[in-house]
Amino acid sequence: MSSTFCLEDVERFRRAIADRIGLSFEDSKVGFLEEVLHRRLGSTGRDCDSYLRLLEGARIPAELGALADELTVPETYFFRNIDQFRAFAERVVPERVKSRASLRELSVLSAGCASGEEPYTVAIILREILQPGWTASVLGVDLNPSALLKARSGRFSRWSLRETPPDAEQRWFKGDARDIVLDDSIRASVKFEQHNLVDDDPDLWGHQKYDVVFCRNVIMYLTNEGAINLVSRIARALAPDGFLFLGHAETLRGLSQDFELCHTHRTFYYQRKAESGRSVPNQTGAVAPADGFSTALIALVDGTDTWVDAIRAATDRVQQLVEHLPPPAATPGEHRAAPARSGWSLGRALELLRKEQFAEALGLVEALPSEAARDPDVLLLQAVLLTHSGLLLRAEETCRRLLEIDGLNAGSHYVLALCSEGIGDLEGAADHDRMAAYLDPRFAMPRLHLGLLGRRAHDREGMRRELSHAITLLEHEDSSRLLLFGGGFTREALIALCRAEMLVNGDSR
Ligand SMILES: C[S@@+](CC[C@H](N)C(=O)[O-])C[C@H]1O[C@@H](n2cnc3c(N)ncnc32)[C@H](O)[C@@H]1O
Repeated sequence: MSSTFCLEDVERFRRAIADRIGLSFEDSKVGFLEEVLHRRLGSTGRDCDSYLRLLEGARIPAELGALADELTVPETYFFRNIDQFRAFAERVVPERVKSRASLRELSVLSAGCASGEEPYTVAIILREILQPGWTASVLGVDLNPSALLKARSGRFSRWSLRETPPDAEQRWFKGDARDIVLDDSIRASVKFEQHNLVDDDPDLWGHQKYDVVFCRNVIMYLTNEGAINLVSRIARALAPDGFLFLGHAETLRGLSQDFELCHTHRTFYYQRKAESGRSVPNQTGAVAPADGFSTALIALVDGTDTWVDAIRAATDRVQQLVEHLPPPAATPGEHRAAPARSGWSLGRALELLRKEQFAEALGLVEALPSEAARDPDVLLLQAVLLTHSGLLLRAEETCRRLLEIDGLNAGSHYVLALCSEGIGDLEGAADHDRMAAYLDPRFAMPRLHLGLLGRRAHDREGMRRELSHAITLLEHEDSSRLLLFGGGFTREALIALCRAEMLVNGDSR
């Protein structure tokens, strides 16, 4: 620790960074922040208090830019996550071209563009696919001035082209093994500006200004509040039905209800809803399931055609076992089972679900006041109960209603996967599982289901990959979610099931 500041100063520095740039740093990064603070005090020649007051004060783009250079990861390359660019070229642009037929102009923002490879990739694709007579405006913005300087230069290392298709490289780049120069006309077609994405800058975030926004690998570094505010500005600045691309490990779940999830070209992205959505709903909570359930149910799973059949076939035996177990202890999940905001309790219905008394549980849920039909927690529980009762068409209808309210509800996609499998649509089932797993990377059941679907399709590698992922997730899966989606199986039974399936198919993990 430098003699010029103390731990409280570093804490103050961390808060100022979160407020002014939106960046979030965990406790494990405090040492790194100390080093940066030390360097900034050296460069600005200020003492710590005066420097922190500067940071907390009025607009100081130069200092924030210098900090961004120190604190952010400028990693990027041309055609990064190429499936998203395929979706952009083959679905997004054709749709936006139809919407803008009278204007004949498309506008794309790359928010957090780093050294420019992303907006330049957009410009290359638009040049290749737009008909003559159309114009494209591509704007790249970032807070980091040295990244923008590199972007404007149009000169890159060969490493930046590591995912670039050879024909695009031949058409749009010149140079030798070390230094690559981008075609001048592409370079001139992209505008770069320094902006802080945390600021509500009216020029940058004009109403319905963009057809498409790329904001990839940015929100993952932001505070929750910073991410929510940024996404809300993006929603405002996108045309109705405009598109948003995030990084492949980022989702809008918990951040916004203004978008629909799109899943094409083996990738995910979002389309702005024509009307703004409602506030983000809570997750459904539940009581903990009983433990100690026998792994003998694995045999039962193997004796049925589909996972949804296995869940239903498990019912009688789960019932017998549950009756001999003591009631579960109350968990924090129980409180979430009775959401105060809606004024009705789902606790009793969840208890009946635990006991596999589906008809009674369904009766309770359907007897709730009519406003309950718009509560995502109620709809999800109802869909699960309908699935358990074998009423797949009604379960599907309920999920669709739920997705109209909360388009990013991972549980709803998982139940839709079961419904699709139930009617023999295995591809549809896998698609919904993938959407559920993407929306909530910690959700174990879609991975398990994808593994079982892989086994049915004789895809041994896919089966092995998904089941082993499911085992890792199941070890930490929330007990309330296991009750809701686990089909009556305990955590141990589900893990044992995954292991047994892998063993039978030649993997001994
Ligand atoms: C990992 S790069 C992403 C580059 C590109 N979008 C991609 O996915 O390849 C993240 C960029 O976000 C920028 N950034 C982070 N916070 C920002 C803020 N508050 N305002 C503007 N840019 C920011 C960083 O400077 C960095 O260049």
